[in-house]
Amino acid sequence: MAIDISKFSRPDMHNDIAAVLVNEATIAARVHELGAAISREYAGKDLLLISVLKGSVVFMADLVRAITVPHEIDFMATSSYGSGTSSTGVVRILKDLSISIEGRNVVVVEDIIDSGHTLHYLLRLLRDRNPATLRVMTLLDKPDRREVDIPVDWVGFSIPNEFVVGYGLDYNEIYRNLPYIGVLSPSVYSAE
Ligand code: PRP
Repeated sequence: MAIDISKFSRPDMHNDIAAVLVNEATIAARVHELGAAISREYAGKDLLLISVLKGSVVFMADLVRAITVPHEIDFMATSSYGSGTSSTGVVRILKDLSISIEGRNVVVVEDIIDSGHTLHYLLRLLRDRNPATLRVMTLLDKPDRREVDIPVDWVGFSIPNEFVVGYGLDYNEIYRNLPYIGVLSPSVYSAE
């Protein structure tokens, strides 16, 4: 199968951004606050952070360096079963954890919560593995899009229902490396 390389040859990714929603300095300041909150909460306690790939990897990398207490990290990768799944909430596990979470203090780290189906499924699955505590941190929250109610312990930014990319978030697997959260210009996705 031929690989379509056109998306790799965009002249300047910044030109595809209609507006910067959260700039680099604002993200850094908030990540610092979130790291401090985790450090206070888990000082002297067991702590395991679980990053949900791929979107959360940039946030996770900055977050762990803003946390001042010892902790472990692990990763999971999920994908929904096609477009119909947001109604059923069925999520596929592409990569599972490499360690047991039984008896552990777990914090799930997400880049964004949209409908809530991914986390709803994931939290149920993780709860069945008997962690001591299970909490959720997300960098971005789109409350207007929520279809299923889930407990969220820490939110970086509540944002409006815009198509955002950057700082880990993608469109068609690109734009994850933009250092800010930007609103993708509709001309990009309407042209494809
Ligand atoms: C995003 C995000 C969450 C999920 C949130 O992942 O990282 O896991 O969508 O959406 P929901 O609340 O409607 O379930 P995505 O499927 O885009 O994969 P990626 O992180 O690999 O880009």
